[in-house]
Parts: sequence; C-alpha cells; structure tokens
Amino acid sequence: MSAMALRQTVRALFSRGLPTVPLARTGCVRAISSTAAVRSDALFVHRDTPYNNSSIPFAFDEQHMPEAQEIIARYPPQYKKAAVIPLLHLAQKQNANWLSISAMNYVAELLEMPPMRVYEVATFYTMYNRDPVGKYFVQVCTTTPCMLGGCGSTAVLKAIEKHLGITAGHTTKDKQFTVIEVECLGACSNAPMVQINDSYYVCTCTNTQEDLTPESVVKVLDGLARGENVPTGPQNGRLNSAPDRENRTLTEKPYGPGEHCVPEFA
Ligand code: FES
Repeated sequence: MSAMALRQTVRALFSRGLPTVPLARTGCVRAISSTAAVRSDALFVHRDTPYNNSSIPFAFDEQHMPEAQEIIARYPPQYKKAAVIPLLHLAQKQNANWLSISAMNYVAELLEMPPMRVYEVATFYTMYNRDPVGKYFVQVCTTTPCMLGGCGSTAVLKAIEKHLGITAGHTTKDKQFTVIEVECLGACSNAPMVQINDSYYVCTCTNTQEDLTPESVVKVLDGLARGENVPTGPQNGRLNSAPDRENRTLTEKPYGPGEHCVPEFA
C-alpha cells in the first residue's frame, strides 16, 4: 500500500470513529487507547470562550489587594516581576480557584511584564487551573508510595470516582467537585492522601486498616458536600506524621551533648 493510500485509509477509519488503526506493512490492527484527561495535559493554547476572554474584567478586590501589595513589596522595585508566581496564585484564589486570561493580563500589568511572560509561567506550573473547576478541587495522589504497600491510592481514587459518579479529569454536574490524578504531593509518610483545595486529607496507611481507606475518603467528601468543616490531616486519628500504632523509633531518652564522643571531642 502506498503512503498516500495508507493515509487515506487511516483518515477514513478515524472519520468513521473506528477504534483501530491498521499498521503499515504488516496489515495487522492495533487498538487505540487513551488515559484519563488530567489538568496538566490541558491545552496550552488559550482559546477565547464566553466565560474566559480578555474582555471580562479582573482586578484584585479589597480583600486581596493588600496581600498583593505586601507580596510585591518583598522584592526590589526593579525585580517586582519575581512576584509573578504568588500573585497568580492569589488571583486564582480570588477567581474561584481558576486563572482566567484576564487575571493573567492583570498580573502582567501590575508587575509591568509582557503578558507572554505571565502566560509562560501559568502554563508551566500545574498548580494553575486555566479552566473553571468545582468548588472542591480534589487532587488524588497516585504515585508509587501512595499506591503500593497496602496504601491503596487506586482504591481511594476508585471510591471517589464511584461516589461522585465522575472519572478523573472531570467535574460533577453540580460543580461541587473536580477530581484529578496527580503526582507526589510530598505527604508520602501519610500515604495515601488527597489534596482538596489548599488542605491535605491524609487517609489511613496501615495494612490492617486498608479496608477503611475508601470509606474515610467518602466520609470527607460527604462532609464537604454538606458544607461541614471537615478536619484536615490524618483521618485515622494519629497526630500529623506520628506513628499510627505504637512508637517504634526514638523510644529511648536521647543522649546529651558530648556523650559517646571520643575524649578529645567531649
Ligand atoms: S507519593 Fe503520594 S504524597 Fe508522595
């Protein structure tokens, strides 16, 4: 089959929506597979939409402007563009947890930067949501320490998806929850964990309690949906990253300065 004919065949298959593609030369067929959409894979190019275009005004309100000024004042005036990351974060916070094109333009103007420089920052870091998200932005860590060893982030994610009726990368119809899968969020000692807006919710991580993990996540979601102030941190009662059962380290009195040293260092 010539290259032209192959291209036409592939185009025809795609236009009919068939889920297979013939491989060149061999004539065999390979299934097309795709992973769930995640925010970090979102389109890097801005497209104007009715809810996100530069004619929609944005400015820091009375609540956020003092904080913006305090952030800018941390840097010498000629380097105030160094404040771009915290200011974008602040703008996102004011704008229902997502960053519109107008917010980016406003930050660029405030810091006297070319807007393109601000777009470069906003598209590089995955903490910026350039599309609207739900009231509760649920980021489920599914990296290795949260997934392996009985920690069970897969079960946690499945429980969340089942409970909310959406898959990762999507928002519930009532705009209450957006769920995405993310890489390590730096709370591996309390794995598995989810970040909901700015708070960490750490699940149980003991092998003996792994069956409780999906349940505790669902309880957190239910509490948030009811508008309750759900306590953050470990959901199994332990303090921060302290041992979840008996203490197994640092159980003896720590030795003092000079002990166990050779005499000349004592
Ligand atoms: S692997 Fe999940 S927080 Fe580090």
